[in-house]
Amino acid sequence: MIGVAVMGCGVVGSGVVEMLIENRELLTGTTGDELRVLYMLDLRDLDVPEGVVLTKNFEDILNDERVQIVVETMGGTRFAYPYTKQCLEAGRHVVTSNKELVADHGDELLSIAKAHGVSYLYEASTGGGIPIIRPIQQDLRANKLSEINGIVNGSTNYLLTEMREKGVSFPAALGEAKRLGYVEANPAADVEGWDARRKLAILANAAFGAKLGDNQIIPTTGISAVTEGDMNAAAAFGGAVKLIAHAHLNESENTWTGWVHPCFVPSAHPLYNVNDVFNAIMVHGNFVDNVMFFGRGAGSKPTASAVVGDIVEVAQSLDAPRKRLEYASPVAFDAAPSAPRRLLVRFTGDENAVKAALPGCIIKECGDEKAVMTAEAPADVLNSAVQALSSAVQLGAPLFVL
Ligand code: HSE
Repeated sequence: MIGVAVMGCGVVGSGVVEMLIENRELLTGTTGDELRVLYMLDLRDLDVPEGVVLTKNFEDILNDERVQIVVETMGGTRFAYPYTKQCLEAGRHVVTSNKELVADHGDELLSIAKAHGVSYLYEASTGGGIPIIRPIQQDLRANKLSEINGIVNGSTNYLLTEMREKGVSFPAALGEAKRLGYVEANPAADVEGWDARRKLAILANAAFGAKLGDNQIIPTTGISAVTEGDMNAAAAFGGAVKLIAHAHLNESENTWTGWVHPCFVPSAHPLYNVNDVFNAIMVHGNFVDNVMFFGRGAGSKPTASAVVGDIVEVAQSLDAPRKRLEYASPVAFDAAPSAPRRLLVRFTGDENAVKAALPGCIIKECGDEKAVMTAEAPADVLNSAVQALSSAVQLGAPLFVL
């Protein structure tokens, strides 16, 4: 018997327990031993399956030698951080879906795990049910990975899809996303792009060796300023608005660049058809070319699938955790303010002023407004031109063009 404790029995934790019970036979066959849930830790008085102890006391888990694998699905860092540290220091393997904890303290927790000969696995932290961390660290590791483009936040993708396809209002779509269990405890983490930023940091760490712990430096704009007008503008140019997380490696400088921003995604792009709560992550490697990973990015069962996948990895290698990819030195972040890009911006006012300020641009009608797509230019040059233009015409918030 391999003892498991689940800390935090919300959307994800309850899904993990459900999967461990429902797929018990399959999992026993896969791991060669029974994975038995001994404890569920939660402050609420919940109904728990027979044979499982519901506790409010973390020490019960820490002091029970039968617990070999701890699942941390509490979210946040206040309790999750010290509890995870104590579990690892006590020689317990820890498996988590907690992107905030991994993005903020992942480097430290991984080194504690290594020092104690245990695993700290976090497949579920990014892309919900999509296998992405393990494929990057194992299946693709023979490649030099140079670029990532992803839709990594299920809630905002759901909101944008509902607004675009069904004309549902932002508050109504947000309410439904909450009901479905997609939204963070603080919805601003989704809407303002912080959740996507954390996931981008985790991906850049896996793909390029970016440091974990300072994800706040990644330029991030969420979807709170995206309007119906932006969606019409994107449609006029044959595309849709999506919240994209982007990262690329500047190999010659040994730095990486990344951002999270609402983007115009043209209909020919593979990410265009990624709707609803689905996530997709495109990774470029020098031999494999582009690979795209697609699936449900949030929700109880898909996320539980990724957590339990990590539990299986741990259970199959209890005494000798599988070696994960390690980078000799961290790759520093460079915001690359002059990197070339194109923008799509809504406007009302003098078209000639727009043409003069943005040479080579294309202008299209969209309802009562117009939209301009710029030619490619350094980001700082474009920003200054748009800024200067705002005194002559009324501009919407710019979308990056993917
Ligand atoms: N709030 C997150 C999302 C949950 O919407 O993607 C899954 O990480």
